[in-house]
Order: sequence, then C-alpha cells, then structure tokens
Amino acid sequence: MKIKFAEDFDEDLFDNQETDEFDYFLSRGIIAAKGPVLKQGKEASVYYCPGTEPSAPPVALKIYKDIGTRSFKAVSKYLEGRLEEAGMSRRDRMHLMSSPRDLHCFWIQSEFHNMQLLYEQGLPVPRPLAANGMALAMEMIMEGEEPAPRLKDARIPKEDLPRLQKTLLTAIEKMLSLDLIHGDLSCYNILYEQRRPVIIDFPQMINARYHSEGKTMLERDIRNVLIFCKTQDAQGKAWRMAERLWKNYNGCNFF
Ligand SMILES: Nc1ncnc2c1ncn2[C@@H]1O[C@H](COP(=O)(O)OP(=O)(O)OP(=O)(O)O)[C@@H](O)[C@H]1O
Ligand SMILES: [Mg+2]
Repeated sequence: MKIKFAEDFDEDLFDNQETDEFDYFLSRGIIAAKGPVLKQGKEASVYYCPGTEPSAPPVALKIYKDIGTRSFKAVSKYLEGRLEEAGMSRRDRMHLMSSPRDLHCFWIQSEFHNMQLLYEQGLPVPRPLAANGMALAMEMIMEGEEPAPRLKDARIPKEDLPRLQKTLLTAIEKMLSLDLIHGDLSCYNILYEQRRPVIIDFPQMINARYHSEGKTMLERDIRNVLIFCKTQDAQGKAWRMAERLWKNYNGCNFF
C-alpha cells in the first residue's frame, strides 16, 4: 500500500490527549491499533486506523483539538440553534457555555448524532462508528487500497459531472427535509469513491429550523456544487434553487 500520510508514522506524534482518545476506541473494539495521521487540519487531525474485523474497512479517527484553540466567535456561530434544538434549559445552557470541556463534548456528540441520522436515511456519508468527548470514529472511505481523494484532488471525467451534481443536489434537498444544512459543502469536504460522492466534515452543520443564516448557507452549499460541476449561471441557479427549497421547507417558521 502506498498511502501518503501527513507525516511518517512516529509514536511521538501522540501527545497525552491523543493517547487517551486512542485508548478509548481501542478498548471498545472500534480500532485494532493506533494509526498514522492522514490529514492534519485546523481543528482536527484524521488518523488512519485498522478496523477490528479483517473484512471491515479501516477506521478514520477524527481527533479534535482542544476547544481553547478554536475561536469563540466560530463556536458561538456553530452552536446557534443547537442548544435550543436539544431542548436545554437556560441554566443548562449557561453551564455549557462556561465549561469548555462539556461544550466540546456536546458539539462532537451532536456531530455524531447528525451523521448517524444521515447515514440511516441513506445519504452518502461515511458510516459513523462511535464518538466520545474529543473524537469521532467513522468508516474510512477507500478508493481501492487508498483513502478516497477529495473532489478537489480527484480526476473526474467530464461526463460524470451531471450525475455527480444530481446526487449532491438531491443530498442537499434530503438533508433539508431532515432540518439539516451542511454549511461547508465544497470540493474539500466531499470524497470521490468509485465515481460517487461521499460527504464528510459536519461540525458546522446547522439545524435549519433554528439558525438565522440557514437560507444563505443553503444557497452557498448549492452554489459550490454548481460551480464545481461547471454549470452555467451557477450564481443565479443556486439562488433560484435555494428560494424554491426554502419556500417548500415546512420546518422554517422563524426566519
Ligand atoms: N471518512 C473518511 N474517509 C477517508 N478520508 C477521510 C475521512 N474523513 C476525513 N478524511 C480525510 O481527512 C481530511 C480532513 O477531514 P475533515 O475535512 O473532516 O477535517 P477538517 O478538520 O475540516 O480538515 P480541513 O481543515 O483539512 O478541512 C479530509 O479532507 C479527507 O482527506
Ligand atoms: Mg474539511
């Protein structure tokens, strides 16, 4: 296998926090061993870990950085609507906002919960496996022997673009019917597996019922897909599609 990892695998890569996260998933039989870093992002690192069953695909273990390293502005923006959605009392919300560790845990659990919902509803997302307060384990999407490339890096035949666009627009529409908007859908957050798209990276996903910028984010997700698929007048078409979907969206009572 000639997978390109972010860095050569080295035990020293794991600081204490990451060692704890690996132990959590090892002891629950989600991963068979620690694995090397596949991608190191701004907010999380994704590790490539062997699964516990020989026939099972490898596991992508996404370990988030401490919430202290994320900007508070971003946190409050992402959280808009989530606490209301969880039916939390004002007292519980105040507690959560004053406890970075609990906030972090709530955030990752809600990302995991959203992924489970999408997966169960048949949307093209990796199978979520487990989550704790700092990390999330999911099926590693593979293209042959290697992790699948992002759309950005994949070689996509021109004739595949209309089908790709249709699959992604249908997924956007279906997510909205579940009250969800990805919020950062782009060629960086979609993998390409056997000529099919698989959507990843959900920490900023919003609940359309409660978020004040739902329609804007919906339109941006649609526009990114249309532009990537080289559709003419992507701007205008995205606006019209977002208008239509938003009008038909029954959950939208507040904005
Ligand atoms: N389930 C998966 N299967 C295969 N590769 C994955 C999977 N999840 C994540 N990756 C790889 O890890 C990268 C980073 O994952 P993700 O986008 O979820 O994290 P991120 O924190 O947003 O990182 P970035 O800042 O680079 O966008 C992806 O671009 C992809 O290459
Ligand atoms: Mg990403």
